[in-house]
Formats: sequence, structure tokens, C-alpha cells
Amino acid sequence: MATASPLLPLTFLPSKISASTSTPQRTSLPSIDHKLVISGGRPISGHVPISGSKNSALAVLAGTLCCSSGPVALRGVPNLLDTRTMADVLRSIGARVEAEDRDVLVVDTSDVGVTEPCSEKIGRIRAGFFVLGPLVARFGKAEVAMPGGCRIGLRPVDLYIKGLEALGAVAEDEKVCVYGANGKGLVGGSFHLDYPSVGATETFVMAASMADGVSVLTNAAMEPEVADLTKFLIACGACIEGAGTSTLVITGRKKLYGAEFTILPDRIEAGTFMAAAAITRSCISLSPVIPPHVARMTEKLTEAGCKITQIGPSALEVSAVPEVTGGDLQAFNIKTLPYPGFATDLQAQCMALLTTCVGSSIIEESVFENRMHHVEELKKLGADIKVVGNTAFIGGTKPGRIALTGGRVRAADLRGGAALVLAGMAASGITEVENIAQIDRGYERFEEKLLLLGADVKRETEAAVSNLHPVLLA
Ligand code: EPU
Repeated sequence: MATASPLLPLTFLPSKISASTSTPQRTSLPSIDHKLVISGGRPISGHVPISGSKNSALAVLAGTLCCSSGPVALRGVPNLLDTRTMADVLRSIGARVEAEDRDVLVVDTSDVGVTEPCSEKIGRIRAGFFVLGPLVARFGKAEVAMPGGCRIGLRPVDLYIKGLEALGAVAEDEKVCVYGANGKGLVGGSFHLDYPSVGATETFVMAASMADGVSVLTNAAMEPEVADLTKFLIACGACIEGAGTSTLVITGRKKLYGAEFTILPDRIEAGTFMAAAAITRSCISLSPVIPPHVARMTEKLTEAGCKITQIGPSALEVSAVPEVTGGDLQAFNIKTLPYPGFATDLQAQCMALLTTCVGSSIIEESVFENRMHHVEELKKLGADIKVVGNTAFIGGTKPGRIALTGGRVRAADLRGGAALVLAGMAASGITEVENIAQIDRGYERFEEKLLLLGADVKRETEAAVSNLHPVLLA
């Protein structure tokens, strides 16, 4: 088995930031393009460590703005492009964000006084907008640029704003300026979400935790990352009932305090490695993982013929070896839904898997309006997929065959990029996945972990790849 260097410590060094509030550049990512070059068709084996949840860490980092007194010590924050950008957003308004040692990130927002975070940083990630709620609750006003993030649909912020308005805020749409009631803080109020938006729920909960009085949110998102943010706020002194359910009752506190908190394991990273085991017809174990958080994925892989075994309180074994499956995996259908439904963040990875399964399948994407960019790329590797609206019809393969062949593809977004890597691991020959800055946004040391499992994956810069694979550049 190939080996990888040990995972490096958290750095969270500040990147160069400006305090400019100019028009955001939504898609800007580091200019050096790295590629993953994958030699496919190899089984993987062994154990993979799962990092802390990206989406929980991003929300909790925004939540540190609720703590006006004392530092917060966070364990399990994954070292990612997106979390580093979020750290820079906080720094741009005067927060101290430092890695204390390998595992602990210390965030102190006691001295924050500015209410206009750096637009350019906010424009890189969706979660940048999460700072709006805590800022307006704590300071009575905030001006936050429109957020960036994966281009997977329109992704409006109307529900965030309506939730804050229910707490007495007044919004000026064009600048996304939000003022607290009478230019002061927020007041308790009730709000029903027409759709259980993750970000709008998180924004409401953070804001209401500091509002004057009792607030009630119904049809709240129940994603584990929302529940994790709620637990974090409670650890800081907030009073929130109903964590993890669709109704949240929040009694506002004048002040929240610094606390220690550990981010929950990343269920999407876990699900991605589960799909990696399936698509390569391999057996791997993974931990830490909270089994109920990947229950839908476990059900679908079991339906395909894989065997998923809980081998410890927070460890799973996923087996898709021929002795277990009888040789082939069978097609299954998916409809993405808010939690506890099937996660939209695992849709692309499952589509890659389904192109290697026997029989046809249907994937309906119901959460985001445009999350199918990976389809055209998978087709370049030989996949048979047709898209009508938000539904993909996948042709699958015949018994005894893996239909994919290596080629050059480009990651358009984070999860779609991961799906292309998985497809490359199953495909015959060499696959190059370009624009992997998208993958770096949300997977901590992805290729190092794949190497640990014995995959043949290399990260190369554009120039180095050009030298190594002239034929592919012709
Ligand atoms: N929506 C609105 N109005 C709003 C907010 C959302 O119409 O004000 C719509 C969106 O356009 C979308 C749907 O509601 O169609 C769901 O969006 P939601 O707000 O629930 O998602 P999010 O908060 O923008 C988070 C994760 C996503 C994950 C979704 C769903 C973060 C930073 N992002 O996004 O993660 O897919 O919840 O679980 O927490 C990823 O990690 O790859 C990723 C995209």
C-alpha cells in the first residue's frame, strides 16, 4: 500500500486581506491550478480518518461573534480553503483567530468593533453571510456583501433577511445593510421558514440568542450541523430548546461567553469515502463517524449490494468486495431532500457510483436548482447520463463491466469535483481532474487520505502535468 506523510498541523495563517467593501468576486480561488492525476482501476483498503465537519465549523466560526466576552477554543476545525477564508472574514473585523496547537483553534471576538466584514472574502464563500445575524444582534447594525460559494443555483438570502426582520431588524436590500430595532439590538419574535434553509436557520438562531426576549423558529432545518451550532451556542451560555428538531425556542441573553467546543465529524466526507469504497469495489473502515448521520447513504449502498457494518461506537466498515456483492453493484434511485432525507452534498458522488452499477437509475435533485455540473464531465469518462430539468437518468453498466475510461475533466464545484475523483479511481487508465481548488475548499487533505488507502493519486501543478502527459495535451 502506498503511504502518505502524516497530516500536517493546522496553520490558519492569515492570507493577505484588504478591508475593502468593493463588489465581491464570487468565484475567485487561488490562481495556481492544481490537478489530481489518478491511475484508476485499483482497489483501496485500510482505514481513513474523518475530519471535523466543514459546514459545522463554518457556522460555529460565525457563531464566535456572539461571544463578546472571552475566547472560544475549538477542536476539530478542518484546515480547508473555506475555513481559512472564514477565519479571514473574522479577522477583517478585528477578531483574533490563531491555531494554539495542532488541534485547537482559538477565536477571540471580544475586540470586534467593525460591522462591515471584508467583501472580497465574503464573496468567496456562502458561509461568509452567516456573520450578518450575530453582528446585527450584537452591534445593532451590519453591512455584509452578497456571499459566494458553489455555483449550484441562485442561492438567495431572502429567508435570512425575513428571519432577522421578524426579530425587529430593518433591511436595506441593495447594500444588505441590516439595522436592529431602533438602531439597537434585536427583540424576540416568531418566524416560520417556508423552506428549512440551513443558513437561514443558523442565522436566526445566532441572532435570537442575543435578542431581547423569547423567539420561536418553526420549520427549522434539522441538519446535524445546525444542531452542532446550537450546542456550541448553549456551551457559550445561550438558552435554546429543541436542538436538532424543527422547532427551536430561544431565550435571548445579553451576553454570551467564550467556551471550549469540539466540531462534529464530517458526514459528507464520510459519505464520500463510503462511495469511494463502493465505486472501487473495496473494503475500508472509517472513523469518527456518527452512524445516524450517514443513515440514508448506508441504506442506499446496502440496496446496491454493499455491506456496511458498525465496528465501533463511531466507526464503520464499508465493503463492496466481490465476495460480498457477488461481483456487481445494483442501481438505486435517489431524491435529495433536507435532513434527514438524502443529502444533496452526496448526490454527485452517488451519481459517479451509479454509472458503474448494473441497471438504470434516477437521481432527482430537489434542494438546489442547478447542481448537475458534474454530468457533462462524467460523460467525458464514458458515463451514460441524460438530464431533464433537475432529474438525471443514469444508464448504468452491464454485469462484469465498469463502464468508465480515463480522461481529462474539470471540477466545477466542491462535491462535483470529489465525484470526478471517485470516477477516476474506478475508470480504466489515467484521469486528470483540473481545478481542484474546488475540492480543497471542503475536503481536508483529500489526496493524502486516498493515498493512505492505497489509491494511485498525485497532485500536480498545470506545468508539471503538461510535462508528464503530453499526449493528453495534444
Ligand atoms: N434558499 C432560499 N432562500 C434563502 C436561503 C436558501 O431560497 O434565503 C434556498 C437555496 O437557494 C436552496 C435551498 O434553499 O435552493 C437550500 O439552501 P440552504 O439555505 O439550506 O443551504 P445553505 O445554507 O446555502 C448549506 C451548506 C451546503 C448544503 C446545504 C444543504 C454551508 C456553508 N453550506 O448551504 O453545503 O448543501 O446547506 O444541506 O453550510 C457543500 O458543503 O458542498 C454545500 C453546498
